[in-house]
Amino acid sequence: GKGNYRHFMEKEIHEQPEAIAHTLHAVLDSGTGAATIPAPLDAATIPKITIVAAGTSYYAGLTGRYWLESLAGIATEVELASEFRDRDAVLPEGGVTIAVSQSGESLDTLMALRRAKALGQKTLAIVNVPESTIAREADGVLLTRAGPEFGVASTKATTAQLTAFCSLAVALGRKHGRLSEERAAELRRALAGVPGRVGEVLQREAQYQRVARELAHSRDVLYLGRGLSYPIALEGALKLKEITYIHAEGYAAGEMKHGPIALIDEKMPVVVLAPSDGWFEKTASNVAEVRARGGRVILLTDAAGAERLAEKDDHVMILPDVEPVVAPILYAVPVQLLAYYAAVEKGTDADQPRNLAKSVTVE
Ligand code: M6R
Repeated sequence: GKGNYRHFMEKEIHEQPEAIAHTLHAVLDSGTGAATIPAPLDAATIPKITIVAAGTSYYAGLTGRYWLESLAGIATEVELASEFRDRDAVLPEGGVTIAVSQSGESLDTLMALRRAKALGQKTLAIVNVPESTIAREADGVLLTRAGPEFGVASTKATTAQLTAFCSLAVALGRKHGRLSEERAAELRRALAGVPGRVGEVLQREAQYQRVARELAHSRDVLYLGRGLSYPIALEGALKLKEITYIHAEGYAAGEMKHGPIALIDEKMPVVVLAPSDGWFEKTASNVAEVRARGGRVILLTDAAGAERLAEKDDHVMILPDVEPVVAPILYAVPVQLLAYYAAVEKGTDADQPRNLAKSVTVE
């Protein structure tokens, strides 16, 4: 049941420290602390990884790409399952396709997995439901341990997917000699600290509730992020539209000047994801462009970022400091809270949004 929570979504948001911790526990070897690399990713060389998924799982895949490229040095492509299944993708021999799915039943993702097999790829499923069709059909399985997720809007399954991708990329980076043992150990420690940091975000959720009340009355909302924060911007926009029916768009911060900047005026809230990382300075200049056009900035950052960037008219939400590599796992949480509390304010049913099913088994 929902316990003391109004919605499954609220409950599942609050279950994230355990979902992340359990996923880490399952992926990491208790002796060495290193992640076990599931077949077929344990091959000596991997010419290319192709990630196929839908919706939120696709955004987790986009984040996974940044990690697989930068930590493991493996060429990675991410494809919408519904497109990939009917495309003539050209894939190298020995390539690995990863199908990412909470339910393990999304028809598009299943079809993409079958297509990858037909193209001679080895396959891995990252799923939350062990007995699912996608888990059964893939050559290898990496289980996320989020526990059953009932809310249509995916929350704890998403952060568990991100956790799985990040630990996997660290393990692959170590195996292929891209990461020193020292750096890998540092990243594993950062991952181990994420459940605690997520707990801290959840303790301060009243601030998200306040800002969400304002978001609930907007017609459109823009989410901006760069680098590792870009997929989380997409995720934030999807969460908001699916449960509040408010039009929202996620954009790569640097792409804003190529079009969507035309939309910005005083009525347009712009949620900016800006942890102090290698992309921060560039994101900061995009924030200046938003302000110059009167946009209302909602800043998700850390203490140093706020110090550097916040201005008095902004809504500023300060997140705990974390190693920038793991920041997307943490920053996924406030965008869920904003969407959830905006839905509560609007009175829409966060658990059962109109027109949507928990697992989409049609084409
Ligand atoms: O079960 P899956 O991860 O395959 O589901 C994919 C999407 O349908 C799903 O993530 C959808 O986008 C969610 N409702 C997002 O919150």
